[in-house]
Amino acid sequence: MLFDEPFYQAINEARWGALQCMLATVEEQIGRVEDLLDLGCGPGWFAARLSAEGRCVRGLDGRIELIEEARRRAPLASFDVFDFDAAAMEAVPGQADAVICFGLLYHLENPLRALRMCRGMARQVLFLESMTLPEDGGMARLLPENPNETQGMRVLALLMTPDAIAHGLLASGFTYVYRYDGEAVGHEDFTSTDERKKRRDIFMACDVQVSAPGLSPYTPQSLARFKY
Ligand SMILES: C[S@@+](CC[C@H](N)C(=O)[O-])C[C@H]1O[C@@H](n2cnc3c(N)ncnc32)[C@H](O)[C@@H]1O
Repeated sequence: MLFDEPFYQAINEARWGALQCMLATVEEQIGRVEDLLDLGCGPGWFAARLSAEGRCVRGLDGRIELIEEARRRAPLASFDVFDFDAAAMEAVPGQADAVICFGLLYHLENPLRALRMCRGMARQVLFLESMTLPEDGGMARLLPENPNETQGMRVLALLMTPDAIAHGLLASGFTYVYRYDGEAVGHEDFTSTDERKKRRDIFMACDVQVSAPGLSPYTPQSLARFKY
């Protein structure tokens, strides 16, 4: 499977490290995160690890073949088919203390709508990882998708800037938005060099204020005539 390629494993390991740090930070405030929803779970890489820690994990993905593979690879978790662009917004398929949304947002036609669905699903916290545009300010770019097992399910997707994502999170009703330090992730996609701009960001959105190394409050540039 494309998900088993070494480049994919490397980014998963890096994101797993960031997720572990963010979970530990949140758990200091709210106690143990018992249940999680894993959105765009693919073949269950994160669900397998989180359920092996004794957490109750439910993965959702739009592709039935990935859900079947996830059921094989992560037998301690449960999985269902769910298409975030096709489902009605009020058809949110459940709630959990924490929602993980890694690698999904930039494959969607309607990422802002998906962030609202994330808010509806997250009782306490959302951990979000996405490819991002390098520009400052609240912007999105329409891109063609290349549908395959790791990609989107439609021919178009909207890629957003970090500011646009943060606006979407605040507009959806999360009180606090934090960005995870790209250097701390330990993967080149999350940092800029002279030759190459960073391509990805990790956010944590919640209703409790936290202070932890690696997590900085993220305030997007204000949009004219708009207040949260
Ligand atoms: C890049 S993979 C990320 C997989 C996993 N979360 C990870 O980080 O390893 C994107 C996943 O999103 C799923 N996906 C794409 N569009 C979707 C949609 N509209 N609804 C639900 N899942 C979708 C794909 O099937 C794929 O499993």
